Amino acid sequence: MFKIGRNEKCWCGCGKKYKQCHERSDEENLKKFVEEGYPLPDKHLILSPEDIQGIRKSARLSVAVMDELDSFVKEGVTTLEIDELVAKLTADGGGICAPYHYEGFPKHCCTSLNNVVCHGIPDDTVLKDGDIINVDVTTILNGYYSDMSRMYMIGNVSDEAKQLVEVTKECMYKGIESVRPYTPVGDIGNAINDITDKYGYGVVRALCGHGVGLEFHNDPIVNHFRTDRKTMVLVPNMVFTIEPMINAGTWDCNVSKEDGWTVTTADGSLSAQWEHTVVVTEDGADIITRRI
Ligand code: MF3
Ligand code: CO
Ligand code: CO
Repeated sequence: MFKIGRNEKCWCGCGKKYKQCHERSDEENLKKFVEEGYPLPDKHLILSPEDIQGIRKSARLSVAVMDELDSFVKEGVTTLEIDELVAKLTADGGGICAPYHYEGFPKHCCTSLNNVVCHGIPDDTVLKDGDIINVDVTTILNGYYSDMSRMYMIGNVSDEAKQLVEVTKECMYKGIESVRPYTPVGDIGNAINDITDKYGYGVVRALCGHGVGLEFHNDPIVNHFRTDRKTMVLVPNMVFTIEPMINAGTWDCNVSKEDGWTVTTADGSLSAQWEHTVVVTEDGADIITRRI
């Protein structure tokens, strides 16, 4: 529950006491949600300006790594070569690849090809003309986590694949645009599902966006599908990912019994995903993993 002591420092970084700064306006903004029984974030989810600065630096490194991938990921390259480049560039930048040995994950990034929804493990698979692939990079720099992913289209991809990749990107940005402080996090999924409905695409339900920054995965849970449940109300200085996974067919997925990680579409259809880390501001969301 959101409860900052009146004499504690305000969350906004002004240096003043909470009672002399945002206490009253927070109460006004949150009143209706409290009355209606919406969950409020615990105060540890509201990050200090210093911590947000640290996460921004981590994000700069994630972006630098991904920008290098933009020219590297092409026909003939293996997903293991992508992994090795991510590992090298991250280490060169003074960072650590968060996926490496995270809950037993064996590689430095996730490479999710065609019908793989997410958590694909880099291996000797060679990228070929017509493939679509998501590369997901999570960097720890000075203890701060940033998480992002992009799609790559290899050579000439089908019109269907291209549309899926582009609509999924639109879903991510429309989700981000829907973020406002003092509104429920569920608005993100509502905005995304409005788009996918027009195309008959399935929004993956088993995996979600997440709080990030001081840890890899934290609250809030950011679902990408429509809900009328009372979801957590967002406030400034919360940091989380928006990372819709959109399937050309059904939303239903399977997890590999062999490796315990690779998530695939249940019907074999293509899947796409884009991911940004955002910080809630006083009037919306700031994308901290954006290109500079
Ligand atoms: N980067 C993924 C996410 O967006 C998580 C990958 S977990 C791993 O949340 F272990 F597979 F790396
Ligand atoms: Co993520
Ligand atoms: Co990620």
